[in-house]
Order: sequence, then C-alpha cells, then structure tokens
Amino acid sequence: EDAIRQELGSLHGIPLYKSFIEGWPQVKAFQARPDDLLISTYPKSGTTWLSEIMDMIYHDGDVEKCRRDAIYNRVPFLEMKVPRDLSGVEQLENTPSPRLIKTHLPVQLLPTSFWEKDCKIIYMARNPKDVVISYYYFYQMAKIHPDPGTKDEFLEKFMAGKVAYGSWYDHVRGWWEKKQETMLYLFYEDMKKDPRREVQKILKFLGKELAEETVERILHHTSFQEMKKNPAANYETMLPTVMDHSVSPFLRKGISGDWKNHFTVAQNERFDQHYQEHMAGSDLHFQMEV
Ligand code: PPS
Repeated sequence: EDAIRQELGSLHGIPLYKSFIEGWPQVKAFQARPDDLLISTYPKSGTTWLSEIMDMIYHDGDVEKCRRDAIYNRVPFLEMKVPRDLSGVEQLENTPSPRLIKTHLPVQLLPTSFWEKDCKIIYMARNPKDVVISYYYFYQMAKIHPDPGTKDEFLEKFMAGKVAYGSWYDHVRGWWEKKQETMLYLFYEDMKKDPRREVQKILKFLGKELAEETVERILHHTSFQEMKKNPAANYETMLPTVMDHSVSPFLRKGISGDWKNHFTVAQNERFDQHYQEHMAGSDLHFQMEV
C-alpha cells in the first residue's frame, strides 16, 4: 500500500516510481550474462506481447511450459521494486540462463553490463497516439501511478514527458540511435500487420529455426484473444489493490488506431504539431494506424 497512487520521483531527470528509485543502486550494478536477452520498450508498446512470443520461442512453442508461471515471473522486470516483494534484480538472480529480461529504461540508463556483455536486445516501439491512450487507461487501473487526471491533462503530461519513464520521443529516438548488430528494433504496428514476418525476423536475429507448425502455434498462442484469456499472460493474477482490471483490463483492446476513438480534432492537431517538432531530423517513422 506504500506504493499506491504516490507522486513520481525523478531518476537522473526521468520521472519514475519512488519505490523503483529506491532500488536503483542494485539495478545500476546489475550483472548481465552474455546469453541474457533484453526486451526493451517504452511502457504500453507491446512488451507483454513480445515477452510471450519470446518465451514461446525459447520453449520451442510448448504452450504448457509457457503456462508455468505469470509473464512477470517468466520475464522478470529489471528495475521493478515494490515493498515486501522480490525486486526484479532479486528475481533475476534466481532465474537460470538463458534469461529473458524486461525493461522500460531509457537507453542512457541501461546498466552498462548489458553493453559490456554484448547482450542481444529487442526493442519494440509503438506509435505515440496509441501509447498515450493505452497509458491513460493503465494509469487508472495500475495503482502504482499517480492519478492521471482528465484525458486532456494526461495528454499534456505525456507530451511534456511528465509521465513514468519520461519522454516517449527521447525513449524511441534514444534506442533508435543506439541501434547496432546486437539489437533488433521492432514496431507494434508491423507485428499487428504481419506477425509471421516479425516472428521470422526474431528467429533470424536469434539464429534459430523452427518448424512451420511451431511458428503457427506461437502465432496462435500469442494472439490478443488467446493472451487475453490466458491467466499466465493477462496480469489477472496481480492483486486487485495493485491492478484493478474492473477499471480497465490490462489486455484492453490490442489494436492500432484506437486513439481515433479518443482524440478530439483539436487534440489531434496539437499532438501532430508537437510530434513534428519532436521527431524533426529523425529517420525514425511511425504508422499511426494499420
Ligand atoms: S506494460 O505495462 O508497459 O508492460 O504494457 P505493454 O505490454 O507494453 O503494453 C500493453 C498494450 O499491449 C497490448 N497487447 C497486445 N496487443 C496485440 N496483441 C497482443 N497479443 C497483445 N498483448 C498485449 C495491450 O492490449 C495494451 O494495449 P491497449 O491499446 O491498451 O489494448
């Protein structure tokens, strides 16, 4: 309860949950292993989807093995720290290799050990209009966040980078500019459009081959409909005091372009203007719908 609806603190200028900031020294000193694979995202960009896909790939499409535990235990959340629970770092210390690790950290805050050990990293980005709407509903249901205020207020906070993990622009651009051989940069919209092609991209990146029927099973098991009813993937095993799915389910809509049901014309114009200014000069492009 100490972490419920608290104001955010600041970690090296990035707004973040105060309980996570308390655990920062352990995260900073985290010792990655060369065969760790890091799943990195700005919040609400398809982390859980990619995590389920990766766990399925790691278990050769064995659905039962991927039901062994909740997704947040199968793919520990590196910087997670809340009172009276194992931290992400502690969970990872107890996880046998090869480990899948989730983070939302901006690139400049990633513990240096990941670079030193040349760990593989998969970054997934999602268009900011869908991210902000997804985040708005998540702020309401996940009580670790401060009150989001009205949609309009939340949009302003998001554009100003005054939400947990800071500026979406800095995050996606920071990781984009850091791209190198050991990194794969994916888009939620591509995964929606052609999941088979994206899974093949991942397999190539991992240097792994899977039978066509295994890929088929992975695609089926990680579809929105399947994940939504899977207690090991849908976060419904979290205490309702932490996440209240009756306010908004964690797997809410799972589409691209839902922002159109939420933005007013004026909000959209303002957002577009802001987007142009903040993405100027970048060769990173987003599809706002598919
Ligand atoms: S978190 O809390 O930051 O880790 O959230 P994250 O998992 O990154 O993002 C949650 C959004 O991803 C959607 N989602 C999916 N979309 C399509 N297919 C599948 N399988 C899938 N799984 C999760 C989820 O519904 C959230 O988006 P919204 O737009 O809110 O529905």
